[in-house]
Amino acid sequence: MKSDNPVYGRRTILKASAALFAAGILPPAGSAFAQMVLNRTQDQILGPFYPIMSKPNRSGDLTRVPGGSGRAKGQLLIVKGRVIDPAGKPVAGADVEIWQANAVGRYAHPDDTNPAPLDPNFEGFGAVITGTDGRYQFKTIKPSPYPVTPTRMRPAHIHFDVRGRHDELITQMYFEGDPYHKTDAFLQSATNPEALIVKLDPPAPGEPDFMVAEFDIVLRG
Ligand SMILES: [Fe+2]
Repeated sequence: MKSDNPVYGRRTILKASAALFAAGILPPAGSAFAQMVLNRTQDQILGPFYPIMSKPNRSGDLTRVPGGSGRAKGQLLIVKGRVIDPAGKPVAGADVEIWQANAVGRYAHPDDTNPAPLDPNFEGFGAVITGTDGRYQFKTIKPSPYPVTPTRMRPAHIHFDVRGRHDELITQMYFEGDPYHKTDAFLQSATNPEALIVKLDPPAPGEPDFMVAEFDIVLRG
């Protein structure tokens, strides 16, 4: 009989697993106690507009500039989720940093040559620390797609740099329904592009002006 294991036969291993399960050492396959192994969130490039000239806004609300008087233009958006490890356990104390273009596709970055106007009430750079439950949340606006050449557009996206205890992930979150997904070399470089695309949920009670995007992030820890 063909064996799947060079040392122990498959039947021997199954018998041993059943004995360990009966002894309460191994969880039954498919049970709520079975070992969960989640794929690490896919990397994406840092991009040229990482805000090297400023410190992130740590208020959790990017729709207002500290000391400013107005609110950012565009569709208000809550971006939230959990930072978890491959076993699904929360990564507390992770530093979640985001940066993004404004509502007309312009970054507040000196190297951005897009002629679209800056928004004085939007710097598009923030950071928060996850709580003990691994959760993070930002108030921001939905960015617009922007041109990278006269004939090529990037789909709307928000950049993330997430630093856990011993892993750092740089990625981008995209929005369902964007017409530029299929032609975007960066999104399409992902093994599973759909996993980086979120849908916008309707506003939650108490925040009627904010659409909601949920983006969970898996780090090694
Ligand atoms: Fe970008």
